[in-house]
Amino acid sequence: MKRIDSAESMQRFAREARAAGRRIGLVPTMGALHEGHVTLVRRAAEESDAVVVSIFVNPLQFGPGEDFERYPRDLDGDARRLASLPVAALFCPEHTDLYPRGFETAVVQDDLSTRLCGAFRPGHFRGVLTVVTKLFGIVQPNVAFFGQKDAQQVLMIHRMARDLDLGVVVRAVETVREPDGLAMSSRNRYLSPDDRRRALALSRALRAVEAAFDGGEHRGDVLRSTLRGEVEGEPGVRLQYAEVASLQDLRDVEQVAAGSRALAAIAAHVGTTRLIDNVVLGGRGRPNAGLF
Ligand code: PAJ
Repeated sequence: MKRIDSAESMQRFAREARAAGRRIGLVPTMGALHEGHVTLVRRAAEESDAVVVSIFVNPLQFGPGEDFERYPRDLDGDARRLASLPVAALFCPEHTDLYPRGFETAVVQDDLSTRLCGAFRPGHFRGVLTVVTKLFGIVQPNVAFFGQKDAQQVLMIHRMARDLDLGVVVRAVETVREPDGLAMSSRNRYLSPDDRRRALALSRALRAVEAAFDGGEHRGDVLRSTLRGEVEGEPGVRLQYAEVASLQDLRDVEQVAAGSRALAAIAAHVGTTRLIDNVVLGGRGRPNAGLF
């Protein structure tokens, strides 16, 4: 595995790989790698000849008062973990390399960026879409892999790639969970043992709504209150949103049409840690985790 820390040398590596006919698979991350990230890497290796993993804690996607400063960073540990995986290059640029003085261009989606997490994190998706566009330009991937865990993020990136003809195939990969159901996340390491237990309310709520949906309940408001009920009963867990939303526009659905799918998504603070999770109702066994 080659470690590359400048955009210029990354672009050179990418140009040479593509000239040699290799298919590049990109896995963008912010590091503090866990089994969820590792699963993306393995999936990328199945579909490409040269897997590139990027690690960059992107300041543009953190709001004031969010956890940019305390976000877990362990580049050497991450590099060791990746060394045992089928990874051709680890790209870990400096901030000043990606955002030099005078940088001022951004990529935005006006409507989708106001839904779900976007309603609570203004500017977040602008930061995500902008850095992912830059990574696509630098790494020149044929295909890029994102987790269902951040469903809104991968839906928006998929839409962006299509809208802007970026020539990158976007794949969504199912959420990897701990044995007790908690979705893996770099932020789980903030949780105290008590909070770790309370955090299970999120996956429990999603399982309950999935069971109701599979049992034939397709009314949006009933599914939403099932979702809320499970989380609101848990002390120490502060719900931010619990939605059953359309996969097209991320707005609340009134009724999930027969044979159709919807996104059940939840965000909550557990102690001081903000966690998100989701399931795609009717999405089981479909490609791209049922998202698109
Ligand atoms: P990060 O939170 O490090 O996540 C990197 C990728 O791993 C994302 O696509 C995310 O959805 C995926 N992922 C996280 N937890 C997962 C899990 N439990 N199962 C499967 N996949 C999981 O998401 C970001 O970084 C950033 O926003 C980024 C896209 C890198 C842009 O800065």
